[in-house]
Amino acid sequence: MTIPFSFRLEAPDFIPSYYDTHIKRTLSAMQGQFLDQNAYDRMRAEDDTLLYEVYEIHRPEVPGELSHGISIVHPGRVGAEYAMTKGHFHRVLDTSEIYHCLKGHGFMVMESPEGEWAVEELSPGTVLYVLPCWAHRSVNVGAGEDLVTFFAYPGHAGHDYGTIEARGFRKLVLDRNGAPAIVDNPRWVKAASS
Ligand code: PA5
Ligand code: NI
Repeated sequence: MTIPFSFRLEAPDFIPSYYDTHIKRTLSAMQGQFLDQNAYDRMRAEDDTLLYEVYEIHRPEVPGELSHGISIVHPGRVGAEYAMTKGHFHRVLDTSEIYHCLKGHGFMVMESPEGEWAVEELSPGTVLYVLPCWAHRSVNVGAGEDLVTFFAYPGHAGHDYGTIEARGFRKLVLDRNGAPAIVDNPRWVKAASS
């Protein structure tokens, strides 16, 4: 679009009235990302469950633009681990992102290339700023409810999924006796330079 535009984002579903792409990520896109591989394999054998969806408004990949959209993480677990996004660093590392939680209950798990970490709780009304250089993953801990967030990031930021696929996040969000617990990821691989 080359003239200013607007779209609607309304409860209860928050599916934008305008978008360019609709991405659906299923269990098969998350091979090796969940801690409990046996639970993952059992679920995969039954079904390729839909984990989350992203409605994106694309903008030219230049610094002056803001790509934005809606992320919807469906509720569920793989073993004790709550449903979550793949998570990523931005390809242009020193770019930030802003999230606004519209619905549900979750956490944003974040970490810097140096191994610093942060986990912020998300509930309707939370506005979260992801600092430049920090990887980020949304986790839905809500019982039976979608986690819906609006996000915006610089048009040239891009996505680096490979680093997280190879190293994992330092922290995981697991169900412990019916409540979310933030725990160390035993498989986390620290970056060589940090
Ligand atoms: O740009 C973002 O950080 C979000 O739009 C995410 O892409 C979205 O939440 C889906 O997560 P991921 O890109 O890690 O699959
Ligand atoms: Ni991002």
